[in-house]
Amino acid sequence: MKSQEIRAKFLDFFKSKQHDIVPSAPMVLKNDPTLMFTNSGMAPFKEFFLGNATPKNSRIADSQKCLRVSGKHNDLEEVGYDTYHHTMFEMLGNWSFGDYFKKEAIHWAWELLTEVYKIDKDILYVTVFEGDENDGTKMDQEAYNLWKEIIAEDRILLGNKKDNFWEMGEQGPCGPCSEIHVDIRSAEEKAKIDGKSLVNADHPQVVEIWNLVFMQYNRKANGSLEELPSKHIDTGMGFERLCMVLQGVQSNYDTDVFTPLIREIETITNAKYGKDEKVDIAIRVIADHVRAVAFAIADGQLPSNNGAGYVIRRILRRAIRYGFTFLDQKEPFIYKLAETLSHQMGDAFPEIRKQDSLVHNVIKEEEASFLRTLDQGLLLLDKVVEETSGKEISGAKAFELYDTYGFPLDLTQLIAREKGYTINETEFDAGMQAQKERSRAASASETSDWIVLIEDESEEFIGYDTLSADVRLTRYRKVTTKKDGDQYQLVFNMTPFYPEGGGQVGDNGYLEAPNGDIIYILDTKKENNVIIHFTKNLPKNLNDTFKAVVNEDFRKLSASNHSATHLLHQALRTILGDHVEQKGSLVSPKYLRFDFSHFSKVDYDQLQEIEEFVNARIRENLPLQEKRNIPMQQAIDEGAIALFGEKYGDSVRAIRFGKSMELCGGTHVQQTGDIWYFKIKSEGAVAAGIRRIEAITNLAVGEYFEDIERDYSAIKQLLKNPKDITKSISVLQDENTDLKKQIEQLLKDKAKNLKGDIKNQLQEINGVHFLATEIDLDPNSIKNLSFELGSEINNLFLLFATAPSKEKAMLTCYISKELANERGYDAGKVVRELGKYIHGGGGGQNFFATAGGKNPGGIPKVLEKAVTYIS
Ligand code: ALA
Repeated sequence: MKSQEIRAKFLDFFKSKQHDIVPSAPMVLKNDPTLMFTNSGMAPFKEFFLGNATPKNSRIADSQKCLRVSGKHNDLEEVGYDTYHHTMFEMLGNWSFGDYFKKEAIHWAWELLTEVYKIDKDILYVTVFEGDENDGTKMDQEAYNLWKEIIAEDRILLGNKKDNFWEMGEQGPCGPCSEIHVDIRSAEEKAKIDGKSLVNADHPQVVEIWNLVFMQYNRKANGSLEELPSKHIDTGMGFERLCMVLQGVQSNYDTDVFTPLIREIETITNAKYGKDEKVDIAIRVIADHVRAVAFAIADGQLPSNNGAGYVIRRILRRAIRYGFTFLDQKEPFIYKLAETLSHQMGDAFPEIRKQDSLVHNVIKEEEASFLRTLDQGLLLLDKVVEETSGKEISGAKAFELYDTYGFPLDLTQLIAREKGYTINETEFDAGMQAQKERSRAASASETSDWIVLIEDESEEFIGYDTLSADVRLTRYRKVTTKKDGDQYQLVFNMTPFYPEGGGQVGDNGYLEAPNGDIIYILDTKKENNVIIHFTKNLPKNLNDTFKAVVNEDFRKLSASNHSATHLLHQALRTILGDHVEQKGSLVSPKYLRFDFSHFSKVDYDQLQEIEEFVNARIRENLPLQEKRNIPMQQAIDEGAIALFGEKYGDSVRAIRFGKSMELCGGTHVQQTGDIWYFKIKSEGAVAAGIRRIEAITNLAVGEYFEDIERDYSAIKQLLKNPKDITKSISVLQDENTDLKKQIEQLLKDKAKNLKGDIKNQLQEINGVHFLATEIDLDPNSIKNLSFELGSEINNLFLLFATAPSKEKAMLTCYISKELANERGYDAGKVVRELGKYIHGGGGGQNFFATAGGKNPGGIPKVLEKAVTYIS
């Protein structure tokens, strides 16, 4: 069975059990401060588990792109070394939100595996939670009994909290789980060692394929468990492992999910898979990592220097250095795999096909720049080796290479070993530890549990229609961070405050208590579908009804920039072409920033055209046409633009101004005329194939033109109010060039005259033609003059002193080269020593040197002393 068919069969099966089949959510999460990436199939449904939202259908199934490279679930370092862990993988899952529970979950899993996929029952084992004393949880007898009905009892194993209790994070929904394991070893091996003893023992052919989680608890901040009001099912089956079993191979990498990539790597690098363990690891690392990186880019997460972008960059760099070290790839090559990937996965995940050229360009550029860094690192490492006495390189130095150049320890070790050196690993680890502690301390935060004041209030956002409302506090919690100290997060029964999202910053404003007390709302954000308001203080009486008021100026300017962003998007697609895709956006009251895919610089004329396009729409004063809660498909059919990497619900909001139509949750002006004016301030590159435009609207444009006007009139005044300002600047520039030329000529003439005088004044002492004199000439001319004289007269020793101002003196010493080299005269030494008299210092070579000082009064002494050097 091909992988495509395996995936389809899973989805069809659950469709037949009344599940809604949904597309994979993006792998990169944007609005969840507790999680960077989708690390399991259930992550996109957190809001349902937490009870903050209700799904349309309480049964859902999908194949979710997951990434396990940070936080609680991190497999990065395993990848490549074994054959069944991945950074990015697909998790096939079925969910029940307060609908069916253990019985159906277990029966259906069994039916699918043994009747649809026809996996031999005798190679399957299942595990059941044994209970945990500390948590006060008991053995999952219910699951045990259910399994007993369908599988021999000696194939049911008990497992501890580590293996059989699933938690999505430190806090939140969790519960016991039952895993299904498969033993695909040969009969011979099975006879030697009982499969049972290999379950959960990291054996590559005895692996977990499916995890059925019975969500029935909530883990609180203090670590204790409470029962959830309704019980849910969360299952996750490793798609690549399932393919391994069904395709009868021994490794995920031998399934058709990976073989096309591996063949392509072999073709590009001339390496052979399956001959040498080191080469195999490198090939697996690359085949795995390119998928993670490509899908992250397609979901809108470019490699960068911080946050999720940095994690992606590190994954790609891991692949690059395995290629560099073990496959001898010194030029970018991983980007070439983007095409194979898009052929292979494009049907199930169209985002990867639609964006293959972006993926290709970004990876290529990242590779090129990291390979340059590796080169620099190699040079540095050479230097470190040179400076090392003994055969052990300091771990601190190795850490510096890692920290500043991204040079990983194993690579440093490898190169060091080739040169016969070792690295002090203890020192390296100490550096690493110290860095981890620094970053932990910087980001340390403590979040208390929610304190619920009013149960069952689902919070309503009313901020599209009003900027103030009477609200009641339904829950709050305290958050302490190093950066902000104590803060409170408040949730209301309804709110006019817009939470940060879709690029637009969150609203601020205040709460007014009945007694007139004011509490400032500093920021508003959304977390798992809950709108959270940040304050420094709690209101005195939590049960009051408060007047919540949004800062109107802030909101209006944000709205102006948001609507302008839509018009800009339309302008770019109209003028540059349909290939333009939004890749990032920031909408604040001050300005807007828009990142988009485009292959080359947007030139001045195009920028003007874009600006004019937007301003024409503003002049048309197009009314806002807003449609709330329309089905996603209807919006798309009507022509709305949806963004890659954005998670949309079943019903969406569409914003239209004339021909611009986008899916958007942000706040907007009532008519485009409210934007006033749109002005682009800059255009540049953010990454390969991604451009950024920054622009302003509204009041900011007024301020911008005022600033320009102020500078302009100052310039005009300086130029004495000419009629044509450009012309008068150009006249000034021409005059300046002429004057410079004249001065040069005058100085040359002067030097020529001086040359004659100097020749006449030369004395011959001990076979040296000597002169020490004060001279009135600029440093450059003195230098030229000295060398000219030197070419005409042999055995020359000149010392010139000048005093360009009352506080400045300069010495220049010229000594013919043969004199300096043969008789040991040293111009550098001369100026250093004589420099004392002018209160300064300097240096240079033995035949030419200069010194500067602050005391022209010392010049006579200098001239008097100079002669001592030859006599
Ligand atoms: N959420 C469960 C897991 O990731 C299914 O294993």
